[in-house]
Amino acid sequence: MSWFIQTCTSSLGKKYIMAITGLMLGGFLLVHAAGNSSIFWGRSAFLSYAEHLHSLGPLIPVAEIILLSIFLLHVITGITLFLQNLQARADRYAVSKPAGGRTWGSRTMPYTGAAILLFILMHLFNVHFIEHNLPIADTVNAVLSRPFYTHLYAAGMTVLALHISHGFWSLFQTMGINHPRYNTLIRIGGYLFTGLIIAIFLFIIFLLLFSPGYLM
Ligand code: HEM
Repeated sequence: MSWFIQTCTSSLGKKYIMAITGLMLGGFLLVHAAGNSSIFWGRSAFLSYAEHLHSLGPLIPVAEIILLSIFLLHVITGITLFLQNLQARADRYAVSKPAGGRTWGSRTMPYTGAAILLFILMHLFNVHFIEHNLPIADTVNAVLSRPFYTHLYAAGMTVLALHISHGFWSLFQTMGINHPRYNTLIRIGGYLFTGLIIAIFLFIIFLLLFSPGYLM
């Protein structure tokens, strides 16, 4: 067991934890975007998607606890790596250089990560930690038809795009998939994955802003 703890607390182990938990969170985002895209088919399609989810009953709190644990592991490991890098820089001794060199995406990872944390808290207080006395379509409509939230959600999507496009690249580097022949492919794959998710969320945000009665 001690070898396991030692591996997980080593610099490389932490990078693996970031890669694996990041991949799982990316999977959640893809499923969440796909589920929310039912909005494009109108109110009843979105409500029947939500009803289908709620019919899973006790599986929902279990899934929520798993998601929260993955998220916390990602955040806590990320903060630990960030502090470790700060310390290394102070000692003028580079413990871990980001894979693929320093890019704008890699440099801003801790800050975009912190902004996403704030975004998620706001989002949960908008749609989750509320009295569920209205159909979820009305709640989403009420939030996203207000320009104030449109701006905050659109800003959230911008930082999310930066974070996951670099995260996608970083995942492959950590896994040792790094060859000049595949690097362009990995970059393009990252942009496509990010573009798909962000485009779905942005379409929903602007659809509800410009057609405030759409989900009524
Ligand atoms: C247009 C954009 C989005 C819409 C319309 C939307 C909508 C929703 C809805 C309806 C719920 C379920 C609330 C409930 O029944 O309890 C939810 C939960 C959630 N959303 Fe979003 N969401 C959006 C974007 C995002 C983004 C970008 C993220 C992450 C960065 C995110 C993370 C979450 C999380 C973590 C939950 C809680 C999941 C759970 O209850 O298990 N959402 N969202």
